Amino acid sequence: MEVRHYLQFKDFTCEEYEYLFARARWIKDVFKRYIPHQPLRDRTLAMVFEKHSTRTRVSFEAGMTQLGGSVITLMTRDTQMGRGEPIEDVARVITRMVDLVMIRTYEQSIIERFAQFSRVPVINGLTNEYHPCQILGDIFTCVEHRGGICGKTVAWIGDSNNVCNTWLQAAEVLDFNVHVSTPPGYEIEPGRAGLYGTDHYEVFADPMDAVKGADLITTDVWTSMGMEAEDAERRRDFEDWRVDGDMMRAARPDALFMHCLPAHRGEEVAAEVIDGPQSVVWDEAENRLHAQKALMEYLLVGRVKTQGDLWST
Ligand code: CP
Ligand code: NVA
Repeated sequence: MEVRHYLQFKDFTCEEYEYLFARARWIKDVFKRYIPHQPLRDRTLAMVFEKHSTRTRVSFEAGMTQLGGSVITLMTRDTQMGRGEPIEDVARVITRMVDLVMIRTYEQSIIERFAQFSRVPVINGLTNEYHPCQILGDIFTCVEHRGGICGKTVAWIGDSNNVCNTWLQAAEVLDFNVHVSTPPGYEIEPGRAGLYGTDHYEVFADPMDAVKGADLITTDVWTSMGMEAEDAERRRDFEDWRVDGDMMRAARPDALFMHCLPAHRGEEVAAEVIDGPQSVVWDEAENRLHAQKALMEYLLVGRVKTQGDLWST
């Protein structure tokens, strides 16, 4: 049987996401009630980090532990990968020993090469191009707060980075719209974003135009991991792309604010927004845990009956 991986948002269908959001809600509910749910007993997750992480590391490690499994965390610099062992050989070795792998690395091609030689499912924990687990948790948060995302408008303000690309893919899979506003020179690249078409996003030169009518405003750091050399230049170029109170007021009155975190108050987002009443960033961060537990369960044991009474499932 072919192994399923989660390397990009578009690896799953809309119908699979509907299952995962329902399952995440159930998993969150039992977690909040302190009811053990351990379908992954005796399963092992290996996590490979080539970049820094707080949320991804904690949510996957806590999530796998809560599901009854165990976790091995590898920082590439401490392993033979840091001394040049080919990624294909690493994939062949460690996937004989564990049941699931999560990787945070640089180019998407690295995780794709790993997956090609993997015996077990591989999850993208962030690459230069994509961050599917983030948007999985983000859209679960939209579902919780607003009942769904289909037909809604998301305004992306800032860099055309991995998180932006993943929102754009998600819009195609789940049928919503993205208004994108980036500074000149930082425009989205539809090919790199892995898009099928142009009918789920619209580009705006002025961020104030992008947020008009939006149900959700979201942004991310101006300088992603690996781009540190451009930091000073980016601070200048992105100065007018800070999400502030004026932008929030130009959106729908009930618009949500999201940020994948870590955030830089006073740079990409004003403190009044991220710490304000429309911000759901802490729910968003927490939901990485619940959504990824649903994802890991799905990849390792498949679909489980979710609907209905908590005690009968
Ligand atoms: N949002 C996110 O992925 O956070 P970390 O970099 O802390 O994992
Ligand atoms: N775009 C950011 C996301 C961090 C979670 C980065 O790649 O650094």
